[in-house]
Amino acid sequence: MHHLWRAFKLVKNQWGRRILAGIGMLGDSAGLILIPLITRDVFDSFTSGQPLAQILATLRNSALYLIAIAVIRGVLVYIEIYYQEGTGNYISHDLRKILFRRVLRLPFSFFDTKKTGDLMSILTQDVDAVRDGTGFVIMLIIVNIFTFVGVTIAMLLLHPLLTLIVFATFPILGCIAYGYSRKIGPLYQNLQQQSGRLHTTAQENISGIRVVKAFTRQKDEQEKFSSENKRFYELGLTIARLSTFAHPVMDLLGTISGWVALTAGGIFVIRGEITFGTMIAFTNFADSLIWPVRDVGWLSEMFQRAIAGAERVYQVVDAKDRLEIPDNQIVKPIEGEIAFNNVSFSYANGEEAVADFSLRIPKGSTVCLLGMTGSGKTTIANLLARFYDPTEGSITIDGIDIRNWDLSCLRSQIGFVFQDNFLFSKSLKDNITMGREVDDALIHQAVEAAQAQRFIADLPQGLETIVGERGIGLSGGERQRIAIARAILEGPPILVFDDSSASLDMRTEAFLQQALNELYQNRTVLIIAQRVSTAQNSDQIVVMDSGTIVEQGTHKELLARDGVYAELYRIQSENMSLLVEAEVNISDHPRI
Ligand SMILES: Nc1ncnc2c1ncn2[C@@H]1O[C@H](COP(=O)(O)OP(=O)(O)OP(=O)(O)O)[C@@H](O)[C@H]1O
Ligand SMILES: [Mg+2]
Repeated sequence: MHHLWRAFKLVKNQWGRRILAGIGMLGDSAGLILIPLITRDVFDSFTSGQPLAQILATLRNSALYLIAIAVIRGVLVYIEIYYQEGTGNYISHDLRKILFRRVLRLPFSFFDTKKTGDLMSILTQDVDAVRDGTGFVIMLIIVNIFTFVGVTIAMLLLHPLLTLIVFATFPILGCIAYGYSRKIGPLYQNLQQQSGRLHTTAQENISGIRVVKAFTRQKDEQEKFSSENKRFYELGLTIARLSTFAHPVMDLLGTISGWVALTAGGIFVIRGEITFGTMIAFTNFADSLIWPVRDVGWLSEMFQRAIAGAERVYQVVDAKDRLEIPDNQIVKPIEGEIAFNNVSFSYANGEEAVADFSLRIPKGSTVCLLGMTGSGKTTIANLLARFYDPTEGSITIDGIDIRNWDLSCLRSQIGFVFQDNFLFSKSLKDNITMGREVDDALIHQAVEAAQAQRFIADLPQGLETIVGERGIGLSGGERQRIAIARAILEGPPILVFDDSSASLDMRTEAFLQQALNELYQNRTVLIIAQRVSTAQNSDQIVVMDSGTIVEQGTHKELLARDGVYAELYRIQSENMSLLVEAEVNISDHPRI
């Protein structure tokens, strides 16, 4: 409830609209009270024995009143719906904006635990539930309360005893409505969750369609989706069954209370205690009371959905930022000296990915992290980018803890090439510049250094070619080279390459190395690799295993040491000579 109120407060400067909506609501309810009172006078004039001319005058006046009320009520209802719905939509628009801004700023640890499908359903369905809750649901609740209270007062003023008799039927109606909402509320919550599951299954299958097809998982995935879909259908059916049962019961009870008003009213008329017109007014009042009571279940359920939605929305908005951001953040050009001081780090699952890692990378030098898969290399790059903060120890750049550097200043001065390169559905140029204002000459320079000029020249629109979702139109190696061009574009003082030559053939890799060597001058470079060939020219090679450093030194030193690196070198050189042979054979037979 607290969260829904927080959402409601988003409309701060809209009190004028709210007051207009309130006036509209009052007018809507007032109409329901006034109409039976006017018709009462008409009926009473029929039985009053007045001369015909007077009866006709009453009829004419009442007709004019009724038309005037209908017109005024129409305008007021329009204002009420327009402004209330406006408020709801304003809130959902703002909430989506806040949510998306938050999603973009959330730390990586958040995405390790939250599914994309879940986030999508929060951004759409839950926000919609909040919109309804703060829009028409709240409006109907208020109108119903106004109507209920107003009509009750009017009835009590007309005849207290008859009012009590008519009200005798309401507790049964109220109980059924309440019971219905208790039953249907959780069902709707299940439906919301199930819809999230369906979303996730569909989304994962669409994103991973290539894996699904490659492993011929279509049948199993189809079955999984069908069973989720069936559960969704069954829940929908249960809800429909419950509401189709509840509606006729409510109608029946409504008819009964109308009948009670008519019978008891009739008796009072015969006794001469009330007029015929008052009896008719009572049956009309009883009729207009049915709606607020009937709506209790439905509205409370919609309201519960809005409360649940607001909670899920604010769970994301309030998600704790695990990154510490101190007040005085340093903004200045980076020189390029990096030091890891006894750094340890565990992901959300608690297992230590990096343990007591210490490494100094002098300004302008090239260091290569080498190690088996899962040894913690990417984790080191993630920590340097401050995607996560170390659990223990510290990382410094130019002697200053990276927690004290301004985050965007830090990230804009480090060029990252990630292992998993994501390309947006935009032109190659936009993918390289990522919104940065740079000269075309600089883009061409970066493209050339990244060895991407040849394949880009072959594309129909060159740099302006739009690449599909996840860059499907490009090969793995081509995507990697675009990512390299993106990273080196502005010549940042620090460069981090995570396995960025893994998808390249040896020739392209050699060219790339040559081009990059020039770029490496005067820059601090951290290369993450699995191939010794990528590592051997580095100033320092660091071999990692299970999150720790097992060997460290230059290529020569490590070979002399005859340890893990030397072993890797031997194995990979053997493979390499086989590969070179194969490549030579292929180039000898170009048609193969
Ligand atoms: N987001 C994550 N959440 C939980 N554990 C993770 C996450 N990312 C990596 N790990 C775990 O941390 C350890 C180190 O992973 P890391 O990605 O740093 O390895 P790597 O050396 O880069 O491997 P590779 O050569 O295959 O890229 C692994 O055991 C991995 O399972
Ligand atoms: Mg990795």
